[in-house]
Amino acid sequence: MGKLWGGRFSKSIDSFIEEYTESISFDSRLYREDIEGSIAHCEMLIKQGIIPKDEGRRIVQALEEIRKEIDEKGVDIDPSHEDIHTYIESRLREKVGDIAGKLHTARSRNDQVVLDTKLYLRRKIKELLALLEELQKELVVKAYREVDTIMPGFTHLQHAQPVSLGFHLLAYYEMFERDRGRLLDCLKRMNLSPLGSCALAGTTLPIDRFFVAERLGFDGVTENAMDTVSSRDFILEFLSAASILMVNLSRLCEEMVIWSSPEFSFVELSDEVCTGSSIMPQKKNPDVAELTRGKVGRVIGDLISVLVVLKGLPLSYNRDLQEDKEPLFDAVDTVKGALKAVALMIKGATFNRKRMREMALEGFTDATDLADYLVEKGIPFREAHSIVGRMVLYCVDHGKCLSDLSLPEMKRFCEKIEEDVYERISLERMVDSRKSYGGTSREFVRRRIEEICAQRGWSLS
Ligand code: ARG
Repeated sequence: MGKLWGGRFSKSIDSFIEEYTESISFDSRLYREDIEGSIAHCEMLIKQGIIPKDEGRRIVQALEEIRKEIDEKGVDIDPSHEDIHTYIESRLREKVGDIAGKLHTARSRNDQVVLDTKLYLRRKIKELLALLEELQKELVVKAYREVDTIMPGFTHLQHAQPVSLGFHLLAYYEMFERDRGRLLDCLKRMNLSPLGSCALAGTTLPIDRFFVAERLGFDGVTENAMDTVSSRDFILEFLSAASILMVNLSRLCEEMVIWSSPEFSFVELSDEVCTGSSIMPQKKNPDVAELTRGKVGRVIGDLISVLVVLKGLPLSYNRDLQEDKEPLFDAVDTVKGALKAVALMIKGATFNRKRMREMALEGFTDATDLADYLVEKGIPFREAHSIVGRMVLYCVDHGKCLSDLSLPEMKRFCEKIEEDVYERISLERMVDSRKSYGGTSREFVRRRIEEICAQRGWSLS
């Protein structure tokens, strides 16, 4: 096939090199964006009188036909087509003949490829935001149902203080809320049209970049043509946000793996998201959680790949930049799958309230509250800490919990302890006493759930 750039060449390209340099095998997924951008560009060329109206119209019509054909039959993935941009232009030539050549007036593949990638990423970020919202909603639904479930809160994976399970689940809501913010920021910053930057320095022709930007739903145009064709930090920004999101997902998944183990037995995952073992009949494995934890590596790898491609690259366009697409596409696909799968896993999860409560009573989760109780009785905190420390040691030696101690036993450690201590270190009281803003008191958790639902327009029933 004759190359679009064939004029300067007297020999044709080596067939291995043609394969080595092609990108059509992966950038074909940009065909809709490529055609959408070409149509807007062509309309601008007509409006500016750069190409005749009738010819421009034929081009637009043919582009629409090509879009339909690709929708139905897909792209012919042949390395001789080089990339999606040249493929569509040669399809156009087959349809309208030599006037196809007018479409590329005042345009280069260097600005075209940035345009396509931005349009694609914009669409994908919106899809990811919708999936993220689904997951956040599942978490809030579960949090609402589990406000009264009391479990041990952990530090160092050791029992620390009792918390509401609703509170624990909302922690993930907040983490994902920041992920949402990062994706929205990324969307906002990248939403400037690159088209009209041409190869690297703009064009001598009287184009109207603002018209194209508006047609394509951009908030404006980029300011510097050289920056526009050289930069891919909008991709880096997305991949960074995607990596952080995956890391957050992975932590939730890790907890599901631990919590579903028989040692914890905090949660039962639904059959739909688990698999069994080919040899051990009793097994029910938390595959979704494990696999998502594993897939984080891919997305972080995608980020690192593009960072390394860009590092040390002189301005402006270099062919290295073609290596941005596979990591980007891989990250988009991976995050999309992970969000869907984890939302399903959370939706089907059943928490073992009884077990969580029993465990909340173990491991001296009431020690801090007992020390606070002593502070309430006028003892300095450091002294209270040491008294309770000695009480814990005594309990460990005698195989008891703090609340198992009789009042006389307690008084041996501190005279000021009274009968009211038992109520003060009951689970509900301990949780509800943590009323400081952002604390685990059930009242605060309920209020936060209401606030979230009001902000997001969700109803939980
Ligand atoms: N396929 C290329 C890419 O993905 C775009 C083509 C630009 N090629 C060029 N020789 N200027 O970046």
